[in-house]
Amino acid sequence: MAQRAAITGWGAYVPARVLTNADLERMVETSDEWIVTRTGIRERRIAGPDETTVRMATEAAQRALATATLEPDALDLVIVATTTPDYLMPATASLLQAALGATRAGAFDLVAACSGFVYALSVGAQFIMAGTARAVLVVGVDALTRWLDFTDRSTCVLFGDGAGAVVLEASDADEGVLSTVHGSDGSGAMHLYLEGFPELLMSNGALPPKRPFMRMDGREVFRFSVRIIGEATLEAVQRAGLTLDEIDLLIPHQANLRIIDAAVKRLGLPWEKVWVNLDRYGNTSAASIPLGIAEAAERGVLQPGMNVVLVAFGAGLAWAASVVRWGATGVRRGG
Ligand code: UT7
Repeated sequence: MAQRAAITGWGAYVPARVLTNADLERMVETSDEWIVTRTGIRERRIAGPDETTVRMATEAAQRALATATLEPDALDLVIVATTTPDYLMPATASLLQAALGATRAGAFDLVAACSGFVYALSVGAQFIMAGTARAVLVVGVDALTRWLDFTDRSTCVLFGDGAGAVVLEASDADEGVLSTVHGSDGSGAMHLYLEGFPELLMSNGALPPKRPFMRMDGREVFRFSVRIIGEATLEAVQRAGLTLDEIDLLIPHQANLRIIDAAVKRLGLPWEKVWVNLDRYGNTSAASIPLGIAEAAERGVLQPGMNVVLVAFGAGLAWAASVVRWGATGVRRGG
């Protein structure tokens, strides 16, 4: 059998500071009742000044390497999915590679917003399946609250910060990434974007009219998301040669409980098979799925042989899905 890319390590990091719905009630005209019934979110984490994107990525990555029992210099590649790097240049992945001491690894960032982690997982898996790499670190990290307008109640209640990471390793066993699906509809790009960023770039050193902030047409993104979770999930399951009945866990991007609920009902999946943590973290963009993986693994929900769907959607508008068969850590290194 061709070489597979198995998840052998996982880790997550969320900032210490909790921002509750009650806190937001004091900042904008909103209510805990509105936020909970319309989104399912109760609280989110806010990165402090020292919780940079690189720092959050490093914490999550170190935990992932520890669960994989892999030394940093065994990594061939570091891929970081983020839309909120500390610098546009250099890449977050290079800073992370140095922080970890992953001396042999190549490093690059990948931008696909909330879908970034699943894209990055897919890219990392292709490197392994092609035989170009044996160990790849894949990180999803975002600090979107740094780009939020905390006077805009339609966005500021939704997002939180965090990081999640997995280690992918070459495996001869029937496990790991079984299928991947990617898509994009750039005609909807302006439904979710950073307003004012081009003006900042074009201002040539002069002060721009105002600071860039994230803007969203929530209803448009909502409709798109419900449709795409179902379509991308079914395509990924089919490409894996499985049926929906054979799926043990769905870890969707955590944007809105109503989106997940509507999509899951359309698919006809039992709710017990769906991982939800947005009540505690809000929408952490590229971090949401690896955060879910780390939590589900740590709580023993993920068991060897389980088929897991990861499905993400967001700015672009872009989406990605993957079916992963959970393995038994340690077996695949031939040890
Ligand atoms: O990672 C992917 C990116 N994002 C998403 O997936 C988000 C997708 N969209 C959504 O989750 C939902 O569309 C929202 C949560 C953003 C909004 O929920 P909605 O049910 O679509 O509400 P709406 O935009 O239709 O607004 C309903 C009302 C409006 O008032 P009027 O015009 O009916 O008087 C809004 O002004 O709710 C108002 N509203 C709020 N009220 C209290 C909007 N935000 C708030 C708020 N608190 N935070």
